[in-house]
Amino acid sequence: MANKQEQEHLWWHEGVIYQVYPRSFQDSDGDGVGDLKGIISRLDYLKWLGITAIWVSPIYPSPMADFGYDIADYCGIHPMFGTMDDFDELLQQVHSRDMKLILDLVPNHTSNEHPWFQESKSSRDNPKRDWYIWKDPAEDGSEPNNWLSVFGGSGWEWDENTQQYYYHAFLKEQPDLNWRNPEVQEAMFDVMRFWLDKGVDGFRVDVMWHIIKDDKLRDNPPNPDYKEHMSTYEKVVPAYSTDQPEVHDIVAKMRKVTDDYEARVIIGEIYLPIHRLVTYYGHENTGVHLPFNFMLVNEEWNARILSLKIDEYEGAIPPGGWPNWVIGNHDQPRITSRVGYSQAKVAGMLLLTLRGTPTMYYGDEIGMRDVPIPPEEVQDPQGLNMPDKDLSRDPERTPMQWDNSENAGFTEGKPWLRLPDNFRRVNVEVQRDDEFSMLTYYRRLIKLRQEEPALHVGDYAPVVSKDSLLSFIRKHEDRQFLIILNLTHKPCLFRAEHHTYKGKIVLATDPEREGKQVEKNISISGDEGIVVLLD
Ligand code: GLC
Ligand code: MG
Repeated sequence: MANKQEQEHLWWHEGVIYQVYPRSFQDSDGDGVGDLKGIISRLDYLKWLGITAIWVSPIYPSPMADFGYDIADYCGIHPMFGTMDDFDELLQQVHSRDMKLILDLVPNHTSNEHPWFQESKSSRDNPKRDWYIWKDPAEDGSEPNNWLSVFGGSGWEWDENTQQYYYHAFLKEQPDLNWRNPEVQEAMFDVMRFWLDKGVDGFRVDVMWHIIKDDKLRDNPPNPDYKEHMSTYEKVVPAYSTDQPEVHDIVAKMRKVTDDYEARVIIGEIYLPIHRLVTYYGHENTGVHLPFNFMLVNEEWNARILSLKIDEYEGAIPPGGWPNWVIGNHDQPRITSRVGYSQAKVAGMLLLTLRGTPTMYYGDEIGMRDVPIPPEEVQDPQGLNMPDKDLSRDPERTPMQWDNSENAGFTEGKPWLRLPDNFRRVNVEVQRDDEFSMLTYYRRLIKLRQEEPALHVGDYAPVVSKDSLLSFIRKHEDRQFLIILNLTHKPCLFRAEHHTYKGKIVLATDPEREGKQVEKNISISGDEGIVVLLD
């Protein structure tokens, strides 16, 4: 087995990925919705921040039932976002700044307005009928099985015209493709080649673990742990509708498509427990390069639990597999709304000092928080369909806060989602030159990470200390960093048994701590994180 240090290092090993939700990053034409020209105008900012790669959520033609995750044409650009020329310009501008561009690929389902589905539903003997999952009703006329939609209600929709149901894991406007059909596979691989030929640097693949379903479409078992407050989708365990063994053949084929090109990355969106997640690296790493690891989004914010989970993850990654970390995205509450403002810097330090590629979510670098959206302004279908469950994703999708002008510099029109009242205080412009701001902190963390091989490609070793502290060592050749993070609000003493650590603080949540020498017993404030360069 090759030593992890001896692995060949690729750009996505060393770099930092930044997710742009295009509707909300920057509007250029005053329609209140972000667009490609807007993104182009902010590339210098992302370069200044130190970002390696930008992942842009879907920008394709779409009826926007699920804000672009319902695609009607995989090889086009939605006019709201711009034109194909704008896209080419974006790609060229990203590359000219020595950055990378990652697109969102949504292969599990299309829009119901996609021509493939229009054909498929036109008659039972249409050549594209089998491109989707059509099924006769059960004997009593009800749904073919008990599968549920992630967005509420049944996963089956009745088609009056052809007298069959079709399956949709998400909205009824998002019919699932039948990936057992080789024509579907080829069509989607062609889509990938279309963008790869243009020069995009990779894909983030939407709901990868959903792609293949049980061939007998057996009923899912009831969830014994279901509670009223949970999404209705969780009433059953998706044992037959997700994470099927055959998915790995598909993933390997997608990987093969990207492998025909140089240095392209393939990332899978996969919400599964660690031991299922790591199977997506594939046999001998023929799967995705990065199966998104959502541990920092899902696990309890507790040092002991996280430390254990990090070890579990490190231990489960197959030889040659590369770890990765995610702190937030357009489907999850922002980190400041989950762990609070006081822990936000600690979370950022964790994300950027762990071993593995970090993915940041736009706005986290300025400490943006979920914005409460009044019921009459809710737009997210997940929120609208299950109104009493508090599942709307609008709060984490609000416009980027650039400056203290009207609408925070996001748009000259009416923003599609409201801004928080405090945007005049929380924005890029006011934080840029403030040495104590979140933005300055993030920028310095990214810089340190990029400069120090120990932090981007070095080994990881846990350090056991107090229960409230998460601490570990990152090491490359003879350069070693000790990272200590207090996940509570109370001060405490870091004391490593059987070992004396000695060194200098090079970065801290409170910059006043930097430059100080520390040895053996290190006092740590509540909500504090420090990076120590060891002697
Ligand atoms: C993924 C996307 C989410 C979308 C869903 C259906 O989870 O991140 O935003 O609603 O897939 O495409
Ligand atoms: Mg616009």
